[in-house]
Order: sequence, then C-alpha cells, then structure tokens
Amino acid sequence: MVDSCKSGGRLYICTDNTQPATGSRYGPEQSRPTRQAGMPRQGRNNTQMMHNTIAIRQETAADFTQVREVIRAAFQDIEESDHTEHLLVDRLRQSDAYIAELSLVAETADGQIAGHIMLSKAEVISGDRTHTVLAVAPLSVLPAFQRSGIGSMLIREAHRRASDSGYDAAVLLGHKDYYPKFGYKKASLSGIKFPFDAPDECCMVAELKPGALKDIHGTVHYPDAFQIDQQ
Ligand SMILES: CC(C)(COP(=O)(O)OP(=O)(O)OC[C@H]1O[C@@H](n2cnc3c(N)ncnc32)[C@H](O)[C@@H]1OP(=O)(O)O)[C@@H](O)C(=O)NCCC(=O)NCCS
Repeated sequence: MVDSCKSGGRLYICTDNTQPATGSRYGPEQSRPTRQAGMPRQGRNNTQMMHNTIAIRQETAADFTQVREVIRAAFQDIEESDHTEHLLVDRLRQSDAYIAELSLVAETADGQIAGHIMLSKAEVISGDRTHTVLAVAPLSVLPAFQRSGIGSMLIREAHRRASDSGYDAAVLLGHKDYYPKFGYKKASLSGIKFPFDAPDECCMVAELKPGALKDIHGTVHYPDAFQIDQQ
C-alpha cells in the first residue's frame, strides 16, 4: 500500500477528494459502496454499520493522546515507515503551518478515535511567486478499522472543509493507486515539482477548486516541521 510513499527515510501521507460530504455525521445515504472483498477485519454488515456511526470532526486538545496512539498503531506494521509520524503531527501543531480546522478525527459513536488526517500549510514557489497550498500528511486509520471507508471519509471531508476555507489545492506523496480516486494526479503534469527524489507518479496534487491548478506552478516547499532538506 505504501511502498512508494517513502522519501529520504520518511513517510508522508496524503489524500484528497472532490466528493463533498454533506455533514459531519454520515448516514446510510452518505456511505460509499460496501466492499465485498478485502475486508480482513470485519464483515460487510459490520462495515455498513460502522459507516452509520462514524463522525468526522475537528480534533481538540483532548484528542491528542488518542490521536497519537491511532497514528502509531496505523504505521506500526508499515515496513517503509520510520514510525515517527506522530512526532510530525506534534511538530506541525506547534508551527505556523498548523490549521486547526483541517486536522480531523473520525470518531465512533462510543467516543473512540478511529482515524485522523492532518492538512497543513505548504507553498508552491516559482521565482517571486508563492502560492499557498495544503500538504496532506499524515492519514491514519486504526488497523481494526481499516478498509471500511474511514480513510476515504477523512479525505473527502478534509477536502470539503479546505475548499470552504478558500484553499485551492492539496499536495501529497502517496500511493499512485490510492489517491487518484480522490482527485489526485501527477503533480508534474501541472508543472509542480517536489523537493525530494521520489517516484513521479507518487508526487501528486489535487484541485480543491475547479481550474485552480492552471495558476499554480513551481516547487513545493514543505513546512519546516517536515524536516525535509529542501533548497
Ligand atoms: C491507508 C489508510 C489511511 C486507508 O484508510 P482506510 O480507511 O483503510 O481506507 P478506505 O477503507 O477508505 O479504503 C479506500 C480504498 O483504499 C483501499 N485500501 C485501503 N487500505 C488498503 C491497503 N492496506 N491495501 C490496499 N488497499 C487498501 C481499499 O481497497 C479501498 O478501495 P475501494 O474503495 O476500491 O474499496 C489506512 O489503511 C492506514 O491508516 N494505513 C496505514 C497508514 C498508511 O499507510 N497511510 C497512508 C500512507 S500513503
């Protein structure tokens, strides 16, 4: 799943989507089609039930401990991970790049945090032109809840809120087969470069507003919290 997401020993996660969510509580009409295959931890009916009881909301300070454990658990068995994604989140929260309303949790009806996504401020720079975009990373779902649609919900809701807040585009380094379904495409097609050596098909960008990418060209500059060696 993440074999192409690694760069410089660090794993960056991201996603996007242009499909609007209609509210923070997802009912049956908002649920995506239930998987019939590839659901190792729960059956179809349980998955449908889970969709009906997951709420996506902004994280609060009271969630930080649980969120940390969600991130750690999500990446625990990911071979390519350096298992420091939770520290990236800590650093971002302390930085100017943090956008509280775009750090979201997926919460079960009984108050368990099952997933988390963070979108932070990044820039695409070309000469004296700087365009603020969003960096999507990390995206984490507790292993027991994976492949039941929660990651997709988080991405879609994050995109909807980001667009409502006036952001034009989101960038990420991620799996080439996972993110296109949320609107991501190769950044190089839009004249956007990433500041590290990574497979071209994994360096992706998504429009949060139609046509936004025609005005965004240059090199992505990640916030310092990512600790990327970028010129
Ligand atoms: C990647 C991750 C965030 C996806 O969240 P999720 O809730 O499990 O994903 P969803 O249920 O929304 O699945 C969406 C699609 O991705 C696919 N998918 C999800 N996890 C997958 C996995 N581990 N392997 C292969 N496909 C996967 C599903 O098949 C599904 O496709 P479909 O809509 O055609 O059925 C989650 O599995 C996770 O936290 N993984 C560990 C951390 C990680 O790898 N983050 C991303 C790094 S790039």
